[in-house]
Amino acid sequence: MDSFYINGGQHLKGEVEIDPAKNSLLPILAGCILVNDEILLENVPKYSDVLFMCKIIEHLGGTTKFVNGNFTNQDLYIDCRDLIYSDVPNELACHVRSSIFTLGSILGRKKIAKVSYPGGCDIGLRPIDIHLNGLKQMGCKVVDKNGYIYADASKLKANDVMLSFPSVGATENMMMLGVFAEGESRIFNPAKEPEIVDLQNFLNSCGAKITGAGSNLIIIKGVKSLHGTKYKAISDRIEAGTFLIAGAMCGEELILKNVNKSHNQELLTKLSKTACNLKYFDDKIMISSSKRPQSFGEIETAVYPGFPTDLQAPMFALASISDGYSLIIENLFESRFKHIGELLKMGCDIRCKNGVCIVKGKEKIYGAEVFCPDLRGGACLVLAGLVAEGYTTINNVELIDRGYYHLEDKLALLGASIKRIKCEKKVDNCF
Ligand code: UD1
Repeated sequence: MDSFYINGGQHLKGEVEIDPAKNSLLPILAGCILVNDEILLENVPKYSDVLFMCKIIEHLGGTTKFVNGNFTNQDLYIDCRDLIYSDVPNELACHVRSSIFTLGSILGRKKIAKVSYPGGCDIGLRPIDIHLNGLKQMGCKVVDKNGYIYADASKLKANDVMLSFPSVGATENMMMLGVFAEGESRIFNPAKEPEIVDLQNFLNSCGAKITGAGSNLIIIKGVKSLHGTKYKAISDRIEAGTFLIAGAMCGEELILKNVNKSHNQELLTKLSKTACNLKYFDDKIMISSSKRPQSFGEIETAVYPGFPTDLQAPMFALASISDGYSLIIENLFESRFKHIGELLKMGCDIRCKNGVCIVKGKEKIYGAEVFCPDLRGGACLVLAGLVAEGYTTINNVELIDRGYYHLEDKLALLGASIKRIKCEKKVDNCF
């Protein structure tokens, strides 16, 4: 277990480049399985989730290779021409939720698949019934047995698919499955997240015929094959959101580069209530906060374009130091609150019942030794550590590496006092 060691109280100043979106890259990597040709994904951060998806592709018989690039991001070549296998075993699937996204693409390409139940952050039950119902509506035979999904798409046919809930992953799975289904498939009640649009754009750049992503109806006209492409994923709205929240807490002319303001509209509306200063330029946002933030009032997580559940945990850090009470309601994942127990160790004042939390902002919170519970909960603890009085040690930060690449280096370049302690080193003498 690596740890972050943070000496709180520094201001963040300067420019930070937001990386391509993890939640775009993962379905796009699953989409590569459909393509009998070479693909170049540009400027890919080595999020650990991305590396796990590469392992899955290699297991199936494809190749993945990182080349060029700067010290963090590199171009990634994916070649699935020689795809041999059609199974994703538990030891690979258990690391990432996105392993389930390969179900649609393996079926599209090989017509048969055996994919283990997925892993991912422990934030709720996370069933896959909507994925499986979608497969069945497209004519696939599905058997759910011993932790594996066995599916047969030899009778795959274009169809209308009605999702009972706009699940991001299920929408992505159906889009990939529909690519090779003869005729026209329509996905009703799809997720509308920007990453869905990005997957459509990626698949279309390979020759797919998909329209409507981002709206209430996605239409897929089946094609016979896909060809290679060069593609760059959209910027990561959750990483951008995390830095924006950091800016509202302790920013001093913090400038985010490579951001799409429209993807973070809900967050920006809430941040504008905190008395921070926001300025917008093309693909940049400048944020600074010269005094203690005001409470943002309330947030309630919802599917896009509502407030993103992935930014719920970071908002706790902001609420914990804001002037006044804040209300935070989580509607998507039933146990996405494991950061709260850790924040209490830092002196935060939080009460919670049935997914509804009230945070009383404190003038001061204090450094403590805390445990990273999941990816975004970990980001929350980093933000809290940045403003806490004294030292904060966050253990188990490998979970943060799943979706933030070199977060500690980016923050240190902005003036934060943060170091990664490899598990073998002692915390003493870090500074
Ligand atoms: C994706 C994101 C994740 C984000 C989430 C919601 C990726 C890799 N991950 O996850 O960061 O937090 O969207 O924005 O893109 N559900 C079911 N049955 C299903 C599928 C989902 O009940 O078959 C439920 C889930 O338990 C959850 C809700 O639907 O309560 C939303 O899940 P979903 O949109 O599928 O999230 P993911 O695709 O797993």
